[in-house]
Amino acid sequence: MDKMIINGGKKLKGEVTISGSKNATLPIQVATLLTDAECTLLNVPLLRDINTMNDVLKAIGMNVKGKKDNFAYQAKGTLKNMAPYDLVKTMRASVLVVGPLLARLGEAKVALPGGCAIGLRPINIHLDGFKKLGAKVEIRKGYVTLKAKKLVGNRITLDFPSVGATENLMMAAVLAEGRTVIDNAAREPEIVDLADFLNTLGAQVTGAGTGMITVKGVKELGGGTHAVIPDRIETGTFMVASAITGGDIRIKNARLDHLTALAEKLKSTGVEIEEQDGTILVDGSPKIKPVEVETMPYPGFPTDMQAQMMSLMCITPGTSIFKETIFENRFMHVGELQRMGADIVLKGNIAFVNGVKSLSGAQVMATDLRASAALILAGLVAKGETEISRIYHLDRGYEQIETKLAKLGAKIKRIKE
Ligand code: UD1
Repeated sequence: MDKMIINGGKKLKGEVTISGSKNATLPIQVATLLTDAECTLLNVPLLRDINTMNDVLKAIGMNVKGKKDNFAYQAKGTLKNMAPYDLVKTMRASVLVVGPLLARLGEAKVALPGGCAIGLRPINIHLDGFKKLGAKVEIRKGYVTLKAKKLVGNRITLDFPSVGATENLMMAAVLAEGRTVIDNAAREPEIVDLADFLNTLGAQVTGAGTGMITVKGVKELGGGTHAVIPDRIETGTFMVASAITGGDIRIKNARLDHLTALAEKLKSTGVEIEEQDGTILVDGSPKIKPVEVETMPYPGFPTDMQAQMMSLMCITPGTSIFKETIFENRFMHVGELQRMGADIVLKGNIAFVNGVKSLSGAQVMATDLRASAALILAGLVAKGETEISRIYHLDRGYEQIETKLAKLGAKIKRIKE
């Protein structure tokens, strides 16, 4: 298993280019199942999760070709209605194939994704929505099977604005008969990107990005080409990297309008942020102030940035407060940050972070994707050497993070084992 070694204390300077969004690409990859015409995706990030989804689609019978950040997909010929357990268990987002398979084949069978490191993550909201569209749902021996001779549009009110459920239902509704309205829909930029892609193929989706999405079903979709939006969480992670090292970096191929809540928080701490022609300039301040953060569905503060923001607050004088409202168990980075000298007190879903003068390098372990990013950020500013093990989590969601950070002046290297 690879390790990352970081020697802290370097101010980051220079320019970094953000990759395409992982969380936008995954549902769009899956949405190519909805048509037998060829679809081309551009700005695809080279990540383990994206490869896993390609493997899921190949197992279903799709033709997937591509190199670098450019992939072509075609779902022609005989397709299987099933996503195998050995792939689904490695990536929860595989459950997104249910919507398109149900719409295209009238049947979908997927292994239940089960819990994951950051929480239980059930799929009840997805299943309730499919039932509203006319599907029969059966759960047996760890698999969920959905069947519908035809899907019929309906009004679906989500109990919670789940990102995955909104995407899954939107994809199914595209080929359903009549009109579907998804109320209390998730409003994340990745939902808007999926709707844009579906509309490129000939779908009729309106309202994406608001709490009410309307889908007018069509008989069939064609092909098309789509460039995926930049990854807002990778962008945010580099913004914090500049802030935590007191650096001065320019972030290219990024969308600040997708990161308003994070930018507002960083500005309130004293970090200077500006946008010029699609480039974000982040100038870390020597005097950062503590903050209160409560994670919320978009446009609130993203749960996927909570861990990274906490690393910054570990070395900020005063007490910062983090309330995690999206996932039950998303504080696994806390124990590892404490090993580096952080003063953090956990009470249920709230973390009180008392800023310390400095962190010190230590051997730590990555536990999930964003927790790994938090440890990298802490390592960038800690005194001495930090060794992070289990960094395969990082490769799920950050494209060449060590190469990008090294170009900005960080002392970071990957040790292959
Ligand atoms: C997506 C993102 C993930 C991000 C999360 C919240 C992808 C591939 N992943 O995950 O990075 O952290 O949004 O912004 O885009 N829930 C239920 N029942 C359901 C569905 C969800 O109880 O049927 C709960 C989950 O357990 C969780 C919360 O709702 O506590 C949010 O989940 P959801 O918005 O669905 O997140 P994902 O789509 O899994």
